[in-house]
Amino acid sequence: MTLKRLATAVRRTRRPVRRGRAAPREQVGYARERRHVARVHPRRPAPGGAPAPVRPDGTYLITGGTGGLGLEAARTLHAAGARHLVLVGRGAPGAETARGITRLRDAGACVRTFTADAADLESMTAAFDAVGREAELPPLAAVLHLAGALDDGALLLQTRDRVRRAMAAKAVGAWNLHLLTRDTDLDALVLYSSASALLGTPGQAGYAAGNAFLDGLASYRNALGAPTAAVQWGSWAGTGMSHRAGLDEDLERSGEGTIPVEEGGAALLGLLAERPFADPVAVLPTDWRRLADHAADTLPSLLPLLPDRPPAGAAARPADFRAALDAARGEERRALLVREVRRQVGTVLGRAEEVDGDGDLFANGLDSLTAIRLRHGLQQAARVGLPQAVVFEHPTIDALAGHLLRAVDGDGGAEEDGEEGSAC
Ligand SMILES: NC(=O)c1ccc[n+]([C@@H]2O[C@H](COP(=O)([O-])OP(=O)(O)OC[C@H]3O[C@@H](n4cnc5c(N)ncnc54)[C@H](OP(=O)(O)O)[C@@H]3O)[C@@H](O)[C@H]2O)c1
Repeated sequence: MTLKRLATAVRRTRRPVRRGRAAPREQVGYARERRHVARVHPRRPAPGGAPAPVRPDGTYLITGGTGGLGLEAARTLHAAGARHLVLVGRGAPGAETARGITRLRDAGACVRTFTADAADLESMTAAFDAVGREAELPPLAAVLHLAGALDDGALLLQTRDRVRRAMAAKAVGAWNLHLLTRDTDLDALVLYSSASALLGTPGQAGYAAGNAFLDGLASYRNALGAPTAAVQWGSWAGTGMSHRAGLDEDLERSGEGTIPVEEGGAALLGLLAERPFADPVAVLPTDWRRLADHAADTLPSLLPLLPDRPPAGAAARPADFRAALDAARGEERRALLVREVRRQVGTVLGRAEEVDGDGDLFANGLDSLTAIRLRHGLQQAARVGLPQAVVFEHPTIDALAGHLLRAVDGDGGAEEDGEEGSAC
């Protein structure tokens, strides 16, 4: 993968505009009687841009610094000239992070670790005070906010506590950093947001909201004159939360892609060099056509990088499929439905030919989120409402095809497609 591919970055703009209709690639929101429009602009980083303003005489504090991307950020900053690094996490670094810290120290970096909860102002105030008391540490140059945790699940299975868990370190943590640094002359506050805030990834309601808060906070702080960069990262390969969740392969297959660590580090430095900071920037290694084909029903329409016309196999298919189904007779109808269910199972699982008609889909890797996507895709293809639990109640390709046949023939099974059944 080249840097060029990785740099399929987009920029989102929010600013008040005159009254009017939203264009197809716009998102409109009203706040305090003002109309705001969000747009996404494709962009590529300027080749050979200015070097990142990283300096040896300042301290770089990284919340979530003991995690996968935190350690990578420390390595990147050190390689770019930083000497003093402070890594903050709630717990002590694990064995792998400890090895990484040792390597950084061997390479001449001064690395300190502090235990604090980013979402707890008292705890973070104590950490900042402790950093300030360390004689060896120069004044803060920049703060990178990476503290974050996942608690993914379908919206119907979310609880207040789960949403809080996915949002607290991100949103409350970022606000605490704002309070703690607003009178400090920082070169930058860098907020590690996520592509979930841009793409609205199914199953990540709390996490996406937490990241969206970071994007808004960056705009707010920049308006106050406090240099703040929000970076909506795509998923990194080989390290971090997404890699640990075993998603690297799925992400490559879907077209969303993954960011190799060296390219992520280069992108971070490139973004740090872009002054003044303005709107959030997404760094995505995405093949948009493939992603649209894979997840057309869940992608926000404001993405200008998506193909304008539905690619073959996505939105074009349902109308064709239903027409073919209506024209078919007898056993042919059932065979068509089995083929379509198998194709869609293949789309959500990444492999279908290996799944027997009577093989339990959940034993073959389906989970609650992919079951929702499967139901959604089948509804679109057959243009018929299906019960929310249809895949759970008919968990094989044959059983699903049989149920669809009855639903299409109006012989039971059909039900209004309530929005409350969708994942996001
Ligand atoms: N990995 C990716 O592909 C990816 C993509 C987009 C965005 N991001 C964002 O990048 C950041 C780092 O992700 P990662 O992949 O490196 O995750 P990670 O390996 O799980 O690291 C997260 C770090 O945050 C710390 N943390 C969690 N809650 C905290 C809290 N309340 N206060 C202080 N520290 C806290 C964790 O340590 P303790 O548990 O010990 O506190 C851990 O060190 C996250 O904000 C994530 O949303 C990651």
